[in-house]
Amino acid sequence: MSEKKIIVAMTGASGAAYGLRLIRRLASLGWEQHFILSDAARVVLAHEMDLSLHEDPGACAGQLADHLRIPIESIRVHGLKDWFSPAASGSSGIRHMVIVPCSMGTLARIAHGMSDNLIERAADVQLKERGTLILVPRETPLSSVHLENMLALTRAGAIVLPAMPGFYQSPASVADLVDFVVDRILDHLHENQAEVGRWGV
Ligand SMILES: Cc1cc2nc3c(=O)[nH]c(=O)nc-3n(C[C@H](O)[C@H](O)[C@H](O)COP(=O)(O)O)c2cc1C
Repeated sequence: MSEKKIIVAMTGASGAAYGLRLIRRLASLGWEQHFILSDAARVVLAHEMDLSLHEDPGACAGQLADHLRIPIESIRVHGLKDWFSPAASGSSGIRHMVIVPCSMGTLARIAHGMSDNLIERAADVQLKERGTLILVPRETPLSSVHLENMLALTRAGAIVLPAMPGFYQSPASVADLVDFVVDRILDHLHENQAEVGRWGV
C-alpha cells in the first residue's frame, strides 16, 4: 500500500483555483493523483479559470498536465461513472482523498451515503476504510442543513476544511490566499511544505 496515492476531486463550488493549485503542488511532492471532476466542476472551471476540460479522461489528463506544467504520469483522470476505477474500492489501498472545492450538494450526498457517482462513492470508501477524507467547502452563509451535514461528516471521521484564507500573514496576491488554504490541506496530508509563513515561527 503506497502512502503517496491520492484521489483529488473537484466539484461545482466556486474556488476552482484551489483545486488546480493543490494538483500542481501534489505533483511537485511526488504524489500519484487520481482525479475526478463533476459536471458542475467543468462549468466552474470554464467560468473561473477559462479552462474547458475534455470529456475523454486521457485527453483531460493531457490538458491538465499541459496547463499545470506537471508530468503526465503524475495524474490519472477517472470518469464520474467509472466504477472500475481504483477510487471505487477500499481494496485499491488508496487512503487519501481531497474534494476541493466541495459543493454543498456533494457534501450533502456524502453525508447521507448516497454514492451515486464516483466522487461520492470514493468518499464513502474513505470513510468506511478510515482513510483521510478532506472536504473543502466554499459557501456563505451556511444554513442549518449545511452545518448539520458538516457535523455528520466530521463525526464520521472526515476533515471539513473550509476555503477561508487568513489575512494575518499579509497576503500580497490572490495566489497567496489560495496557497494559504492549500498549505492547510497539505498539513493534513502530513506534507510540511508551507508556501505562506506559519504563525509564530
Ligand atoms: C460559477 C458557479 C459557482 C458556484 N458556486 C457554488 C459554491 O460556492 N458552493 C456551492 O455549494 N455551489 C455552488 N454552485 C452551484 C453548484 O455547482 C450546483 O449546486 C451543482 O449542482 C453542484 O453539483 P456537484 O456537487 O455535482 O458538483 C456554483 C455554480 C456555478 C456555475
